[in-house]
Amino acid sequence: MKKQEVAERIQKLRKTIDRHRYLYHVLDRIEISDAALDSLKHELKKLEDEFPDLITPDSPTQRVGGEAQDKFQKVRHAVPMLSLEDVFSEEEFSDWHTRIKKLIPDVRHPELFGELKFDGLAVSVLYENGIFVRGATRGDGETGEDVTQNLRTIESIPLRLEFHGAVSGRLAAYEKAIRRALVSGMVEVRGEVIITKKNFEKINAAQKRKSEKIYANPRNLAAGSIRQLDPAITASRRLDFFAYELVTDMGQKTHSEEHELLALLGFKSDTEAKHLSSMKEVYVFHEAVSKKRDALDYHIDGIVVQMNDNALFGRLGVVGKAPRGAVAFKFPPEEATTHVLDIRSQVGRTGVLTPVAHLEPVSIGGVVVSRATLHNMDEIE
Ligand code: IVH
Repeated sequence: MKKQEVAERIQKLRKTIDRHRYLYHVLDRIEISDAALDSLKHELKKLEDEFPDLITPDSPTQRVGGEAQDKFQKVRHAVPMLSLEDVFSEEEFSDWHTRIKKLIPDVRHPELFGELKFDGLAVSVLYENGIFVRGATRGDGETGEDVTQNLRTIESIPLRLEFHGAVSGRLAAYEKAIRRALVSGMVEVRGEVIITKKNFEKINAAQKRKSEKIYANPRNLAAGSIRQLDPAITASRRLDFFAYELVTDMGQKTHSEEHELLALLGFKSDTEAKHLSSMKEVYVFHEAVSKKRDALDYHIDGIVVQMNDNALFGRLGVVGKAPRGAVAFKFPPEEATTHVLDIRSQVGRTGVLTPVAHLEPVSIGGVVVSRATLHNMDEIE
């Protein structure tokens, strides 16, 4: 084959492989057998080996191509990565709502938007002219760590942005903005790196067999995997990514449009997410999600509720490191039964003795608990 023909074949292979990646890892659909896909990947790899100058960073072969690092570089976030205030009951949620409404007396019924709160690790992914160029952890919100090589291994994170979807009507206006961003400029997306419950169990079982560290919860495992210095280890963890924020202005006016744009850009985003027009609807959504929780493939620890109108969200501002216009409405911790193996005293910093129960390890809401401080009688009971 002439080089020009090879280049064309490579393009074709990349497009096909990426299409099946998107179908499988983002839309959860299979249209090709593993064997057929492997043979396409194999052919691509062979051609790229023959013509290394045709390798580009967005090629599917480059997901685990990165070198092991000896440490992570610091990255300053252009827009701080905030966290959320937690509420645990309808009463606390209602207090938040009342507080917010007082700050925007001119808006009678601010529309809310609800979505799942994934239990993983927040990261930011950055695209230049449509190509994935940098990924970073949240860190302290101002400065995170550059974990680009490790994020490249996550198949639900596109290495090249494409416009996905036949849009009509209202969303058609976005097509232009997206297409422009794919060829020039920066796009920043934020979301959560997570691990499926199934993979979590599988990895911990393997760790146990090797007498290596057991991860206490899926968040620890996701964080530990993203902060691996060797991307090959990250790749073996088969992490996943849900996008929940489009930082770049593409004309979105609401958070719900942001979710639609993220899907059009080829990201996996929460399909449970929805408009909530009253407090009652928030409570119903919270309850419905809490019932569905066990059936989901991933751990979630609550719902996130925020002002749907981005202008209002901005107007409400930030207090500390959390935006006033959003809140995490968490689920109550789950309960479990176990055996107390021993009770020992622990000496605190001020010399106070606290009894600590050593427990047969038990999993509660995705966390393995093996100790509990016995502060007062009702806890002991
Ligand atoms: S929004 C404006 N949406 O929860 C604040 N966060 O304490 C940006 N999280 O650090 C976060 N699912 O790691 C948002 N659907 C979701 C989320 C979500 C999980 C995490 C995220 C963040 C923490 C907030």
